[in-house]
Amino acid sequence: MTNNPPAPAWAPAPTAEEQRADPRAIGFAQRYPARPIPTEHEVDTGPICLTPASGLDELWRSIVPETRTRANDLHLPMVVAYAERLCAAYPQADRELVLVAVALHDTGWAHVDESRIISEGFSGDWRKANIRYEHEAEGVNVARRVLPGLGYDEEFVEKVCEIIDGHDTRPVAYSLEDALVRDCDRLWRFDRAGIAMSTSWFGMPASDYVDRLAREIIPELITDAAHRIAEADLERSRRLFRTEVIR
Ligand SMILES: [Fe+2]
Ligand SMILES: [Fe+2]
Repeated sequence: MTNNPPAPAWAPAPTAEEQRADPRAIGFAQRYPARPIPTEHEVDTGPICLTPASGLDELWRSIVPETRTRANDLHLPMVVAYAERLCAAYPQADRELVLVAVALHDTGWAHVDESRIISEGFSGDWRKANIRYEHEAEGVNVARRVLPGLGYDEEFVEKVCEIIDGHDTRPVAYSLEDALVRDCDRLWRFDRAGIAMSTSWFGMPASDYVDRLAREIIPELITDAAHRIAEADLERSRRLFRTEVIR
């Protein structure tokens, strides 16, 4: 008897080629041809703990159960704090859309089989693990459940869902708002709190992890503001954890 995992209950995700050919991806790439996307506005590269996020209190209260999984009570407010900085650097983006999408983006982790988060979500090719698609689909369900009661209209809710669906697994961004969500979701890893959580999740020494951030994550950042914040955070974290010596 084989032990195949149950088939996913949703349609298979489109391939990377199909996603790059999506009119939304093409439109975004045409609107913002320069990468990383430049900004003429000031970028705050100081420690994120100096500029915590504010507001969205009703939204936060409605997702408290979802913050109890996978350190979402640390991850989500930190990522929203980074999102506020990126929105200040790109004022042409829909700030409300970015902040709400970020607050909700990982709530789906609370509705997947927790034992598989570590076994699938942090090992092998973790970006392609089924559990990653499941946490996105479940996050969309959370958004559809909580947002209408907070006064958000259907069009806004669908925009939020489009960003949540694929935030980890879709290789390309479909809009500036989508890009900012992706960037701030990565930025938290450069702060000392993100490094502390991630090294324990991945079972990796801090020196290896900061090397990996520089090698693999910085090149994925889409906006110049995110690049500058990541470099500044990484430099501080390297010095704090003495990673040039302790390796
Ligand atoms: Fe995620
Ligand atoms: Fe996340």
